[in-house]
Amino acid sequence: MKEAIEQIFQELQQLKATTQSEAEQARIRFLGKKGEITALMEQFRTIAPELKREYGQKLNELKKATTERIEALKSAAASAEEATQPKQDLTMPGDALPLGSRHPVSIVREQIVDIFRKFGYDVAEGPEIEDDYHVFEALNFPPNHPAREMQDTFFVSTGHLNPLLLRTHTSSVQVRTMETQPLPIRVVCPGRVFRNEAISARAHCIFHQVEGLYIDKNVTFADLKQAILLFAREMFGPETEIRMRPSYFPFTEPSAEVDVSCNICHGKGCNICKGTGWLEIMGCGMVDPNVLKASGIDPEVYSGFAFGMGVERIAMLKWQVNDLRHYFENDMRFLGEFATATEV
Ligand code: PHE
Repeated sequence: MKEAIEQIFQELQQLKATTQSEAEQARIRFLGKKGEITALMEQFRTIAPELKREYGQKLNELKKATTERIEALKSAAASAEEATQPKQDLTMPGDALPLGSRHPVSIVREQIVDIFRKFGYDVAEGPEIEDDYHVFEALNFPPNHPAREMQDTFFVSTGHLNPLLLRTHTSSVQVRTMETQPLPIRVVCPGRVFRNEAISARAHCIFHQVEGLYIDKNVTFADLKQAILLFAREMFGPETEIRMRPSYFPFTEPSAEVDVSCNICHGKGCNICKGTGWLEIMGCGMVDPNVLKASGIDPEVYSGFAFGMGVERIAMLKWQVNDLRHYFENDMRFLGEFATATEV
């Protein structure tokens, strides 16, 4: 028995455990129900009474030393494990972050701009707070034109000779382009515009436009018509037809409204096109000589065309959204519908 006790003391010195479960294995081996020290305790009951004192002491020491050694190994292993193992369970499923999506107005604006980029147009931008000159005067609006009245335009300040206002169209950017860029000019002007309208399903006080301007020598109405036709076919499909109706804008002469053949019923008549087979998409015309002159361009040498369309309107036609207000309310249920709509 003496040797057995000595032997275990020796082994204790060598005892190693790199994990807590190894340390537990060692505890079971020595101190478990069938452990080596437990067995010695059993044996102790049967030894000669005169040896009991000596061996009893030794056994108690052994038991104590073993318990302490294993406890030490356990806590060392525990802190080593903590240092190397992540505290989280990496096999747990992750928290899904909801993926954002592009706003439908941005998607359509970019499509419009991309189509004209392919035709060789540059993109021009300008300020949303404008002066009367760039929004109206340089564009041949007569002094008493109703668009200059408070009920149609948001004025930022009225006290000056040249009041500041929120632009009502991005034609102001075309004026700034004519003032600063060399000829020929071929630009599209995407941007936010503001009109003092009561908000309804069909009108809003804020919306987005893409307007275009092309000025060069010998630009004709035929060029305008071809540019619009190509645009309409890129935007609404290769079967699309256009028609032009005479109209009026102060800055173009002649002026026209452009309709595209209804992409829902293909001209047969449905409730989207109100039975006509046609959908109105933009205004356009040949740049009025007065507008060219105001920006220092000689109308005897140069001519040009301009067009302008509402981005929300095009988006409504493409996706058959019947209420303009959806585009401004940021209802996630609506916006989420366009998460995969990179191509319309
Ligand atoms: N500026 C016009 C509007 O806002 C659109 C337009 C642009 C019409 C260019 C003709 C030519 O309604």
